[in-house]
Amino acid sequence: MNASLTPEEILRWHIAAGADEAIGETAIDRYAAPPKQPVVFREDRPSLPIAPAPPALDGAHPALACRTLAELKDALFAYEGCALKKTCRQTVFADGTPGSGVMLVGEAPGADEDRIGLPFVGASGRLLDRMLASIGLDRNSCYITNLVPWRPPGNRKPEQTEIELCLPFLIRHIELVAPRFLLLLGGAPTSALLGRHDAISRLRGRWHDCVLPREGKIVPALPTFHPAYLLRTPAHKRLAWADFLALRKRLDGAA
Ligand code: URA
Repeated sequence: MNASLTPEEILRWHIAAGADEAIGETAIDRYAAPPKQPVVFREDRPSLPIAPAPPALDGAHPALACRTLAELKDALFAYEGCALKKTCRQTVFADGTPGSGVMLVGEAPGADEDRIGLPFVGASGRLLDRMLASIGLDRNSCYITNLVPWRPPGNRKPEQTEIELCLPFLIRHIELVAPRFLLLLGGAPTSALLGRHDAISRLRGRWHDCVLPREGKIVPALPTFHPAYLLRTPAHKRLAWADFLALRKRLDGAA
């Protein structure tokens, strides 16, 4: 970076690069000379720490023991197995009415959701609200959650390992909500729940089976574009509108 930049310009540069959150209480002076390391002879070196055990994704996962949504929420709030929780402000669980029959699954909270603690309350959420309204739904007539309940730093995409850690919570979430239909917002929840890795543009607009492995139940799932993508690519709103109409038809029992 050019040394003649003002502190304000440097700050803007960091924000543009995605570093828009302070994640520690104490500023780190990265220009300070590193502390001198004592010379350690081979036999004096401490042994390498044992790698932490991989997170339990089997019968021992805390999500699986939860019998109610309240228990699931508590388990998620108590869970410390995903590093994303350390850099975000809070866990974003869900919004809306669990018994509404329609469950929407987004990707991960952004800065606004992280601040407020509810999914889809920022710019994408405002577009989502308008799309829901266009088919006669609102936040009380559906239920909204995310694949990952913690904001990834700088709004980056959640990594595969992070998704794998969160997926048992989401699957249990779906089992407990037992929606009639799932609306999957974007490629991340679509790949994670359907195991399909084709582009969202190929998967959207058609009904797929979301298989809940433990219960052997199938929930019809409709992938569509993520609202944040639609904000960047408004030409595709027309296709998303068709997807929302397909959901409306299904809710009305007409498809
Ligand atoms: N994008 C998402 O995928 N989820 C949110 O909650 C907000 C933005």
